[in-house]
Amino acid sequence: MKNKSAEKYDLSVILPTFNEKENIILILDKIRKVLKNESYQIIVVDDNSPDGTWEIAQHYSKKLSNIQVIRRLNMKGLSSAILEGFGSSNSKWMVVMDADLQHDEKILVEFIKAFEEGYEIVLGSRKTAGGGIGEWNALRRVISWVATKMALLIIKNNVSDPMSGFFGIRKEIFENSIDKINPRGFKLLLELLAHNPDSKVHEIGFTFNKRLHGKSKLNTNVIIDYMEALYDLSFGKYLPLRFLKYSIIGLTGLLLYQLFIWIGLNLLEISKYYSIALGIEAAILSNYFLNNFWTFRDYRHKSIYIITGLFSYHLISLAGVVINYSSTVILINQFKINIYTASIIGAVLSTLWNYRMNFQITWKKEI
Ligand code: GDD
Ligand code: MN
Repeated sequence: MKNKSAEKYDLSVILPTFNEKENIILILDKIRKVLKNESYQIIVVDDNSPDGTWEIAQHYSKKLSNIQVIRRLNMKGLSSAILEGFGSSNSKWMVVMDADLQHDEKILVEFIKAFEEGYEIVLGSRKTAGGGIGEWNALRRVISWVATKMALLIIKNNVSDPMSGFFGIRKEIFENSIDKINPRGFKLLLELLAHNPDSKVHEIGFTFNKRLHGKSKLNTNVIIDYMEALYDLSFGKYLPLRFLKYSIIGLTGLLLYQLFIWIGLNLLEISKYYSIALGIEAAILSNYFLNNFWTFRDYRHKSIYIITGLFSYHLISLAGVVINYSSTVILINQFKINIYTASIIGAVLSTLWNYRMNFQITWKKEI
C-alpha cells in the first residue's frame, strides 16, 4: 500500500475523535460528499477510543487513499490531537472540525474559498451573521458568553467566536506558532489567534447542531484549563502561572507554620524548638500535597511516587532553608542591608531556588 501521508493535497480536514462510533461514518460520508471536487484529505486522530472509533475509521479508510487514521495510544486531549493532525499534514491549508455532526460540513467549501482569497485563519462562527448556537441550556450559554468576552479582552483579532472548534489555518502560519502553543484543553483557536495578532482572519457563520449520539467531553477541567490559558496569554509573560500558584501555596504554608507553632506552644505545650520544627514539617507536608494537586497537576505523583516526591521535596526545602539563612546573613553583614529587607530578599531567593529545583527534580522527573 502506498504511504498515505506522502501525497500532497490543498486541504487537510482534521477530525479529532474520542468515542464517536455512531458518528464517525456519517461525518466521513458527509465530508466526502461536499468535497468531492476538491483536492483534500481527511486525517482522523483518535485517542484509542474504548468504543473502537479508530477501528471503524481504519476499516472505512482501507480503500481510500485520502483518508488517514492516527490512533494515539499514550496521549489524550483535544488540542494535542488537533496538533498531531496538523503536524502530519502536508497540505497548504488545514481545517479542524468536530466529528460529532455538530459542525456543518457544508461550509467547508467556503473555507476553501476564503483560503484562496488569501485569508490566513478561517473560522466557523456561531456568533456572526448566519450563525447560531441551536439548542443550548442556560448554563452552557452563560459559560460560552463569559468565555468569549474574556477571550476578546486579551486577543487583538476582531472575531466573534474565538472559542469555536471549527477553524482552519494556513500551514505556514501554523508553523510559525508551533513552539508557543500550550496543547492543553479545548482552546487551540484562541492560542493561534493570540500568537498571530496580525493575521488575516475570516469568519463564516454556521449553526451549531445538537449532538445526536455520544457525549460532550467539555467538563469542568476543560473550563479550568481555559481560565488558566487566558491568564497565561495575558499576564503569564510577566509572572508565569505555575510560579504564581507555587507562591500562593507558599503563603498558605507560612500561615500553617504560624498556626502549628501556636498549637505546639498552647495545645501540645511542647518547647518552642519542637513547636518550630512541628510548624516547619506541617508547612512542608501541606505545601507538597497542595503543589502536587494544583501547581504540578500535569506531572502529578500518584501511589509510590508520592513517597519519593516527599523525600525530594524535603531535601530541597532543607537546602532552601540554608540558602535563605546564609543569604540573609551575608546581606546583613557584607552589604549592610537592614535585617527586615535582608530577610525578605533571602526568602525570595530561597523560593526561587526551591521552585526551580522542585520543578526540575521533584515533579519533572519521577525519581
Ligand atoms: N482525539 C481526541 N481526544 N478527540 C477528542 C477529545 C480527546 O481527548 N476530546 C474531544 N474530542 C473530539 C470529540 O470526539 C469531538 O469530535 C470533538 O473533539 C469535540 O468534542 P465535544 O466533546 O463534542 O466538544 P463540545 O461539543 O462540547 O465543544 C465544542 O464547542 C466548544 C465551544 O463551545 C467543540 O467544538 C470545542 O472545540 C469548542 O471549544
Ligand atoms: Mn460536540
